[in-house]
Formats: sequence, structure tokens, C-alpha cells
Amino acid sequence: MQIMTHPRLIPTLFFLFGILCLNPLAAQIYRPSKGIELRVNALLAKMTLDEKIGQLTLYTTDWGSTGPTIREGYKNDIRSGACGNLFNSHTTLFVRELQKVAVEETRLKIPLLFGFDVIHGYKTIFPIPLGEAASWDLEAIEKSARVSAVEATAAGLNWTFAPMVDIGRDPRWGRVMEGAGEDPYLGSRIAEARVRGFQGKKLGDPDAMLACVKHFAGYGAPIGGRDYNTVDMSERYFRDFYLPTYEAAVRAGAATVMTSFNDYDGVPASGNKFLLDNILRKEWGFEGFVVTDYTSINEMVNHGVVANDKEAGELALNAGVDMDMQGAVYQRFLSQSLKEGKVSQAQIDEGVRRILRLKFELGLFEDPYKYCDAEREKKSLLAPEHRAAAREVARKSIVLLKNERQALPLSKSQKIVLIGPLGDNKSELNGNWNGAGNADDCVSLREGLANVDRTNFMYIPGCDFENPDKSGFADAIRAAEKYDVFVVAVGEKAMMSGEAAARALLGLPGVQEELVLELCKTGKPVVVVLMNGRPLAIPEIAEKATAILETWWLGTETGNAIADVLYGVYNPSGKLPMSFPRSVGQVPIFYNEKSTGRPFDPNSKWTSKYIDEANSPQWPFGFGLSYTTFEYREPKVIAAVTAKTALTVSVTLTNTGKLPGEEVAQLYVRDLVGSVTRPVKELKGFQKIMLQPGETREVKFTPTEHDLSFYRRDMTFGTEPGEYEIMVGGNSQELKKVKVKL
Ligand code: GLC
Repeated sequence: MQIMTHPRLIPTLFFLFGILCLNPLAAQIYRPSKGIELRVNALLAKMTLDEKIGQLTLYTTDWGSTGPTIREGYKNDIRSGACGNLFNSHTTLFVRELQKVAVEETRLKIPLLFGFDVIHGYKTIFPIPLGEAASWDLEAIEKSARVSAVEATAAGLNWTFAPMVDIGRDPRWGRVMEGAGEDPYLGSRIAEARVRGFQGKKLGDPDAMLACVKHFAGYGAPIGGRDYNTVDMSERYFRDFYLPTYEAAVRAGAATVMTSFNDYDGVPASGNKFLLDNILRKEWGFEGFVVTDYTSINEMVNHGVVANDKEAGELALNAGVDMDMQGAVYQRFLSQSLKEGKVSQAQIDEGVRRILRLKFELGLFEDPYKYCDAEREKKSLLAPEHRAAAREVARKSIVLLKNERQALPLSKSQKIVLIGPLGDNKSELNGNWNGAGNADDCVSLREGLANVDRTNFMYIPGCDFENPDKSGFADAIRAAEKYDVFVVAVGEKAMMSGEAAARALLGLPGVQEELVLELCKTGKPVVVVLMNGRPLAIPEIAEKATAILETWWLGTETGNAIADVLYGVYNPSGKLPMSFPRSVGQVPIFYNEKSTGRPFDPNSKWTSKYIDEANSPQWPFGFGLSYTTFEYREPKVIAAVTAKTALTVSVTLTNTGKLPGEEVAQLYVRDLVGSVTRPVKELKGFQKIMLQPGETREVKFTPTEHDLSFYRRDMTFGTEPGEYEIMVGGNSQELKKVKVKL
């Protein structure tokens, strides 16, 4: 069905509202509050060069057996003003001790910033970010960041090194667990939600902390999926697929940005003026400060673009790096570089201004101990309402990948045998960035099931994570004689994903897969509960298991959240934020690929394919089942162009099953003929909707001109008139399509 309108009507309207709606993302970009500039400049005027360089310096405290400690040397650096910022220092007691040195024992009494990796929780731990992304629930994701900030600021912290917004299309890269998956549109909306959550209503509120957009930029595309490896792609590809999430986070108001370890276009990010000045400052208008990743200035010597640390510091400062994390390069060499005219006083002063502005914004000069209220700390950490929030977000993050023979939901009359190394485990559940979370505070799956019904299940380990010992198989298999259902909890250890944890193989470690397949041979229903930090390649389990839940690592409330889904207390609603490959040979695999000149045709040899594997993923981006079913009618496109929308798409959605359930309705768009090659589809809208059994709802999408814009042949950003395919459905493959001329 084609919606034809007057050939010139839509392009004209496009042009009109293109003028009207400046970048819609521009809403809340960080701008210094009124009156702060005078105070910053007054303080700057009093500072010595060493004190200025101290503000550009960030050191970690050390990790003792009971938590962070600090070398006497660092305390002297604070005392002398040589270190103006710390990370990995938390609890009100420790922060108060260190802040006291800065505000009572230094010449100018400039308060310290206290940063920490509060990635998905401080003490109450939420699902890993890739898991939260699977909820497609922006409110839930914002809530997770909000509770994380409430607890972290109650424990002395005022700066988090999050959100990580690196697009991840390669599950060999361990840090996909930390982001929001493969898509720029979903990743941008999630980045905005996380910035809002961490920074709260206003910087300066006692429960607001500085967000830090990382890792700028393109860190998620290392060659071979190997962490820290080279990143190289065309500027067009980089701008269309990898930059949008950083821009969205900056325009959502993020106060700080962290540079990435990788090089981009041959220049390491910490020395890359194109990234830090042309794009971040000039194109996006960012006014916060830029901090490097851990010693990434020093590492430019290894990259081979400078001969020594001193030159690295000069390259970094001149590119736009304000703060040196743990490298002590600025502290050791910047005054010499200034004397030699290799850097300017103005550049140093501007970096100090950017940092001081945010210390003023936070209210640290009025009350440097505002985050050090021990009473508040005691009440806030692991508060019941925080655990309840964690359970809610965790339930929403679970993806039902398979459910045959109506194996799920379980009923309490069934006798369950829980098997596998993650069935009775607490130590892995908080994932790789576990903040100040304690494993002992976690609810294991075994405890979660016991909370439902203590009497009707038993636990058998079956096997370990990596140990090749199969002696536990026999007990597990024998349980089939007395029990109705196997629930098998398998996956990765937390440190098998995350930083410096790339994997060349994507199967289940050890003999876990064999255990599952042996249990499938008994004929009893086998419900596989996956706990992992990345898409896995598990084709045999996909084929033979009766039901499969992807549960990521869900944090403190893991066991309760999974039990809620297993027993149908919560109807699973998650959708995959990343494609799951059939085999590692398909990687990188992602839904928004381009057509190529020889798109796959099963009837022709000469088309883009493998001779030993399918092209399609095991489970596609946006995929997730429910205990109920949903039906989409054909979408209708009303090319109503207003100041905000490029077009309006509506679709009728019905819950055709017997249970209430939430569906994530997704809108994809394809520009059929562009001035450059375009993806076969791109996510341009989604809505998560609760429908009662039999309920029908009209769902409307209103993508903006910005949503439909891309980098055209001449590298200008904008839309192009022509024919588009509009697609709507519950995942990126099963879609109802209609064509429209725009
Ligand atoms: C690490 C990570 C970064 C983190 C920083 C501070 O190397 O790359 O994400 O925020 O160091 O811990």
C-alpha cells in the first residue's frame, strides 16, 4: 500500500520544520549556572601553577582487604595541592577523612571530587547495563541510576564513571556487558535516561552526582573484539553508528566525558583533537570537563604517537584533555612543558575552570562534607525500597528466548530440581562492575526458589564453571526419576566479561553445555537459566532445551527476580539489545546491516553468505517472548509533518493470549534509495505497553526529522526525500511493512 501525497508537499514540509526544530537533543546540555564564573575566576586568580596542575590531577586510592586505603604519599599530594581529585574512595568515614585534609590543611581549601565506578548500583546492585537495556524500559533504567546515585552520594561520592555508552556489536568484546548493545537509537535513549538518573533534578542537590560519558569514542569497535585494540572506520560510519550515543548523553546534560583507550583514525582518543575539540566542544558545545581513562595519557607512548610521557601530556592537553587519571603526567611535566611553550597557560587555566565550575555546581565550597552524613548513609544503603526497585528492574531485564511444551511458567505443584554452578551462587551475581556491592547481600537463585516454596525443590550442582569433571552429571540425571522439571542455571563467571575479558569462543565455559544436553536426553522439561555478560553462541541448547531465560547478572535481587518470572508472578517482557550469534564465525553480527550488491538469496550461490553457517542470528536484536501472545495489524503511515515529527506511524496491537503482558512495539525504517548505502532497517522508535488479555491498543510512533537524518554523500547531516519502508513488530525480524514516499 503506498501513501502518495503531492510530490513536493512533504519535502517542503520537511524543509520548514527542519528550520523549526533545531536539534531536539539540545534540550538539557550542561551549561554553568549563573554567578559561578565570577567565583571560578576569583579563585583561579589566586592559584599557583602547581595548584592549578593539582586540579588537573586524579588519583586512585588503594584497595586494602577491607576496602579503599590511601598511601601516605597521596595524602601529602592532597595536602600540597598536587592532587585535587580522588577515585575509589568511598564511605562517609573515609571521604570525610580525606576531604578534611583538602579543606583544612591546604592553602586554598579547594574540595576534592570523589569519583567511583557506580555502573549499575553502589551497595544495592542492579542488573548489568546490558541486562537493563534488555528491559527497553527507560523509566526503570532511570530509576536504577537514580537509586545508585542516592546510595553513592550517601556514601561520600559525587561523581560516577558512568554511563558507558559504547555501541557494542561484537560479543567477543567483554565490555558489551557494560553498555546498551548494538543500536544507536536504543543506546541513545538509554544514555539519556542514565544521565538523568545519575544527575537527578539539579547538580548541587545532595543526591545528585556528576555523570561521566564513556568511553569517548568508539571503544566498542576494537578489531577482533579484543579489548584495547585498534578502532578504525570511515568517519561516516563512525558518525552514523558510533557517535550518536555519546552525543545523546552530552545533550542530556552529562557534566563530564571520559576518553577511551583506543585510537581512532590513527590518533589515540586521549590525544585526538578531532574528537575532543572539533566534535565534542565545537559541534556539540560541551562545557563540562574531559577526564582520561586510567593512565591513557601515558599509554600514548605504547601507541607510538609520542616518544615519552612529557610529550604525551602535551598532546593530551592541546587536544582538550582536562584531567589526567592516575598517569601523574600533568603533575610531573606540565610546568616544564609550559616553560618550553609546548602548552599554553590559557589551556591550563581553561581546564582548571571547567573542573572548578563543577565543584561549585555541586555546592562543595559551601559544604565540602555534604556527602558525608553517616546517618543518611546507614539509612540509605540496601534500604528495602532500593532492594524492591532492584527486583523490579531485574524482572524487567529478563528475556524469554524459548518456551516449548508450555514449560513456563512453573506451577507450585511441580517438583523442581535446580542444577548448575549458578544455581546456588552469590559471588557472580553482581557482575563485573559490582561497585561496593557485597555478594552476601545477594539472593541466589536457590534462595529465590526457596522463598516461593521451600519444600518442593532440591539443588544438585551437576558441574563447575570450568572444571572438566563430569562426575556430578549422574546425580543430576538420576533426579529425572523423581522430579518433574529441571531448572539449570549455567553461564559465565563475572570476570569472564567486562574489561580485559575478550573471548575468542562464545560457548558456555567448561562442561556446562554437555550437562544441559545430557539432561535434555531424559525427556523431562529442561528450563535453562542463563547468567552471562555477553551474547553466547549456544545452538545445541537453543535447539534442545525446552525453555530458555536470558537473565544476564541481575545483582542483589537475582534469585527473587528469576523466581518471579519462573512462577509467572511477573510475565517476562525483555527484548534483546544485542543479536545472539549461532557461531562466533558470524561475529560481528547486527540487525542494521547494509544490503550489499549481492544480498543473501538462498537460491543463488553468488550472494553474500557463509557456506557453513546461516546469515541470520540465533536470536535477533529486539527479540523476546512472553507468556502471552501479541498480534500486530498492518501499520498506517500518516505523513503528518509538524514542528516535531517527520511522520506519524500507527499500528493496532492486540494481546491475543490469556495473560496480561507487556510488549515492546518497535518501529524500523528503511531509506530505500539514499545518496549512500543505507541499512536494511534502523530502529526509530519503541514503546513498551501493558495489555490485558484480549485488549487492543493503537500504538503511535512519531519519528523526528533528526531521527531520520544521516550523513549524506556530501557528509552533511539531514534527510533525503524518496521512498521509505516503514516496519513495525515485536522484534527486528518479524515485521509488518508499508511503503511511503517522504
Ligand atoms: C578502567 C575503565 C574505566 C573506569 C576507570 C576507573 O580502566 O576503563 O571504565 O571508569 O578505569 O576505574
